[in-house]
Amino acid sequence: MSQRISLTRFLIEEQHLGHISADLRQLIAIVARACTSIAITVSKGALGGALGDAGTGNIQGEVQKKLDVLSNEILLEANAWGGHLAACASEEMDHCQPVPDIYPRGNFLLLFDPLDGSSNIDVNVSVGTIFSVLRCPEGINAATDEHFLQPGRRQVAAGYCIYGPSTMFALTIGHGTHAFTLDREQGLFVLTQRDIRIPEDTREFAINMSNHRHWETPMQQYVDDLLAGREGPRGQDFNMRWIASMVADVHRILTRGGIFIYPWDKKDPSKPGKLRLMYEANPMGMLVEQAGGAAYNGRERILDIQPDQLHQRVPVFLGSKNEVAAAVRYHTQAD
Ligand code: AHG
Ligand code: MN
Ligand code: MN
Repeated sequence: MSQRISLTRFLIEEQHLGHISADLRQLIAIVARACTSIAITVSKGALGGALGDAGTGNIQGEVQKKLDVLSNEILLEANAWGGHLAACASEEMDHCQPVPDIYPRGNFLLLFDPLDGSSNIDVNVSVGTIFSVLRCPEGINAATDEHFLQPGRRQVAAGYCIYGPSTMFALTIGHGTHAFTLDREQGLFVLTQRDIRIPEDTREFAINMSNHRHWETPMQQYVDDLLAGREGPRGQDFNMRWIASMVADVHRILTRGGIFIYPWDKKDPSKPGKLRLMYEANPMGMLVEQAGGAAYNGRERILDIQPDQLHQRVPVFLGSKNEVAAAVRYHTQAD
């Protein structure tokens, strides 16, 4: 086997190339180590006492799983004392949480979905952790929610950890997208996919079809044409996959291409989609773009969206760039 490059070595080499600062390197290393702790708990399943509901709810209006709460705590504790961070924001917390006063503060803002795909935990299907890193605005020591409201193109790093048959850590720091596989014996991530490239075309789509009757007309038309296959306007047959853990669906797309869609639906018109911009769509959007893919809300680039609230939702179309362009055309032509 060719020389193994650990995540630690990869990050130090990226720092020597001037792609990241020592503080950002430390932040990413700490997040990866926290994900290793989460991976150990997830893999214990029923034996770890961490399955089932926590008996609490979150700002999303969702019932929290024990692992949602535990993963959130693991990430907060890991990032509190290092001095690299000003504040954290999480799907599981109403507001951002500045680093405690007893610790030094740094120049980065960390956002995360500590446990993505929660509905899959109790049925032993892959779940994950998603994270995004922004710069804290100059001169701000006590960051508040408003300081997080930056468009996704301002992210300095983004990634996820997928807790699947193997545990993998996907990362971009703005110079490509790379994947690392956890060596459990040594407790370290090893580079296994450098410079991932998403095929520009695909014949595989990922969507929750049960919402079909609630979609906008162009969305229904786009999917109906996929289903019409070879005899239809697309002239070829398509396959469908839907894992209902965004991390797992996106990991498949980074690995072999595809288009992932969670569109707007009229089930709850007050919500412009199910997925959250700041800690799901933005980090996944950066990872996918850095791998040669595209990420749109149906009409505009996700990373250009100016957020106006921390937990705002957004429709998501991401993956193989030519297929995302095709789906966007159905919407822009309908407009
Ligand atoms: P989370 O568990 O963090 O709330 O995220 C779940 C999201 C995402 O992972 C997935 O793509 C989507 O919910 C699945 O939604 P449906 O259950 O409506 O298909
Ligand atoms: Mn999620
Ligand atoms: Mn979650």
